[in-house]
Amino acid sequence: MDAETLPYALDLVAGSGVVLSPERRAALRTSLLLVRRDYRFEQVRLWGRIQGIRGAYYVAEGLGPDRIGPRSRLYSLNCVDWSLLPIPTEEMVIATTGLKGRFQGDPSYEYENLERKDEVGKPYEEEAGPLVKEETRLVATIDQIDKAVGIVPRGAYVKTPLGPVHENRSFEGLSLTEAKKLSSYFHLTDPVNLKNKTLLEKADLDPAIDFLDSLEHDVPKGSWSIQVERGGRVIVVRSLLWLGLTFYHVPNTKQHGYIYFGTGEKNLDLPFML
Ligand SMILES: *[C@@H]1O[C@H](CO)[C@@H](O)[C@H](O)[C@H]1NC(C)=O
Ligand SMILES: *[C@@H]1O[C@H](CO)[C@@H](O)[C@H](O)[C@H]1NC(C)=O
Repeated sequence: MDAETLPYALDLVAGSGVVLSPERRAALRTSLLLVRRDYRFEQVRLWGRIQGIRGAYYVAEGLGPDRIGPRSRLYSLNCVDWSLLPIPTEEMVIATTGLKGRFQGDPSYEYENLERKDEVGKPYEEEAGPLVKEETRLVATIDQIDKAVGIVPRGAYVKTPLGPVHENRSFEGLSLTEAKKLSSYFHLTDPVNLKNKTLLEKADLDPAIDFLDSLEHDVPKGSWSIQVERGGRVIVVRSLLWLGLTFYHVPNTKQHGYIYFGTGEKNLDLPFML
């Protein structure tokens, strides 16, 4: 969710449990615009909040010219002071797989990763497993959520011939009819399914626009809900897989964005709920 339009955008998703006081919304906008200036980002987004037991992590993203390329992520415990998070790596993902339960809200908290010890096949040894800092879990979780459910409307981004993905300056939004379809939204990450399409399926796609995976074939089926709210003024898309991920789009305008307000835990019961 772009820091620039923050109080307005937060208002549109307030019905989804994203509740912040007007003072906090204004403070977030001010401090994020300072982050944008100080780090020379082209755009800063409020990514969301991961609620822990003793505190919450507010998370922001700083973007450069390539909108799907690597992005900088920052977190704050007080919405004023922001710290850069390390770049997620494969090792972090492996080290944090199997960590369960709520976040504590303390970046220096250390988890003992018991599950990994079991996998190595030495469940009875007293030897302590490697400790994992909560900050590492935070980094891996944000990345996982973004890759799984970070989304944009079709046509909002343009792939340039040299590769980088830019915002489509002439984007005028989806029509209300388009905005009600899952196929009108794309995952904002390197496509996986697109590469598997047959030539016949590809013939229907415009390579300048359809360079990302749409939500249409996401598994499990039914992991998204699309709702028309405020008398047709706003479309709200929610993930049932990562509860707390809310995307909004105002049809026929450039306004769109997503935010995650949750506990950082995946809804593992989803396949049984559908
Ligand atoms: C950019 O936006 C315009 C207006 O909505 C649309 O017609 C065009 O197809 C978009 N371009 C790309 C590459 O998505
Ligand atoms: C696409 O192909 C890859 C490997 O070639 C496979 O792992 C993946 O499951 C396929 N995806 C779909 C949606 O068929």
